Amino acid sequence: MTTLPNTMDAAEKRSAALTDSYGRAITDLRVSVTDRCNYKCVYCRTGNEGAQYAELPIADYLRIVRIFVSLGIEKVRLTGGEPLLRKGLADLIRELAQLRTSTGEKLDLALTTNGHLLEAQAAQLKDAGLTRITVSMDAVDAATFERITRVPGSFERVLGGIRAAQSAGLAPVKINCVLLRGFNDNQIPLFARFAREEGVIVRFIEFMPLEEDRLWTPESVVPIREVITQLEAVRPVVRLQPNSHSETAVRYTFDDGVGEIGIIAPVSQAFCGQCSRIRLTSDGKIRTCLFSQFDHDLYAVMQRGATDDDLACFITRTVEKKEARHHIGEPGFLKPSRSMVHIGG
Ligand code: 5AD
Repeated sequence: MTTLPNTMDAAEKRSAALTDSYGRAITDLRVSVTDRCNYKCVYCRTGNEGAQYAELPIADYLRIVRIFVSLGIEKVRLTGGEPLLRKGLADLIRELAQLRTSTGEKLDLALTTNGHLLEAQAAQLKDAGLTRITVSMDAVDAATFERITRVPGSFERVLGGIRAAQSAGLAPVKINCVLLRGFNDNQIPLFARFAREEGVIVRFIEFMPLEEDRLWTPESVVPIREVITQLEAVRPVVRLQPNSHSETAVRYTFDDGVGEIGIIAPVSQAFCGQCSRIRLTSDGKIRTCLFSQFDHDLYAVMQRGATDDDLACFITRTVEKKEARHHIGEPGFLKPSRSMVHIGG
């Protein structure tokens, strides 16, 4: 099947390459479609209920993403909060699936979810045009899992969601596991077996100071070395080639080629030099880094009646302000101005 080139409009005549002041190409947009969440994971939220939430109309996310894509974005990941709580999500995906990158390709359209509502929605999301899915799952036994999510019954729901996504044709499903000392650092070999048996890609992520509770200390991070040692106790591991230049995970398989594990080490081996990401919060603000001290209020500009070109200009100027790197673990490190549930993974 051939893809017809889009007709040239003002948006496409703009330079199709967002580049920051350090020469990094920004090709990957994360869009949070709600900051509501039905879980209270210890590494993200407090156990308190009742906070205010902020969402834009679906049509406004669509307009914003379209402008980002006209500027050179190739990958869009929908996040939250918990994106499956967002009404109209499948409609948004269907519209986004029609967009073409500046080189005429389809967008790489991914979603990160906690999986709680996935069993009922997986087929619909795939039909709408979703290409990839990542499920957060921090333990492979129910008791450990629910101690982290603080929601009884959540483990079975997530497991059902993962399997539904696989049957809907969203395989290979990626699993994100944030390792927290004292919570799930005993789960590494269990996850190795889970990856091998279920055909999912398990990615261990070092805990970053993005949570509402003040839980993070350098000692709460489980470093890469320890993950590898524990994997090796299951079977010898073999390093895989990176899929792309800006890939955050270092990939491994086992010596028999069965199972894939990724290790994402933003703390012990920061990858800011290859960062290609930018984020839109659920209330329409741009964040140039997870650890930014400021948001850039794109939505306020939009509400003042800005044209697409005005918004494109604002985006381009904001990208130029992207930070060189985060400063986790350094003296004087300041926690970001918002926690993960508000920023969007
Ligand atoms: N540290 C590291 N990763 C985190 N995530 C959420 N909070 C944290 C944190 N404090 C990850 C989860 C989720 C993704 C969006 O971000 O694994 O899958």
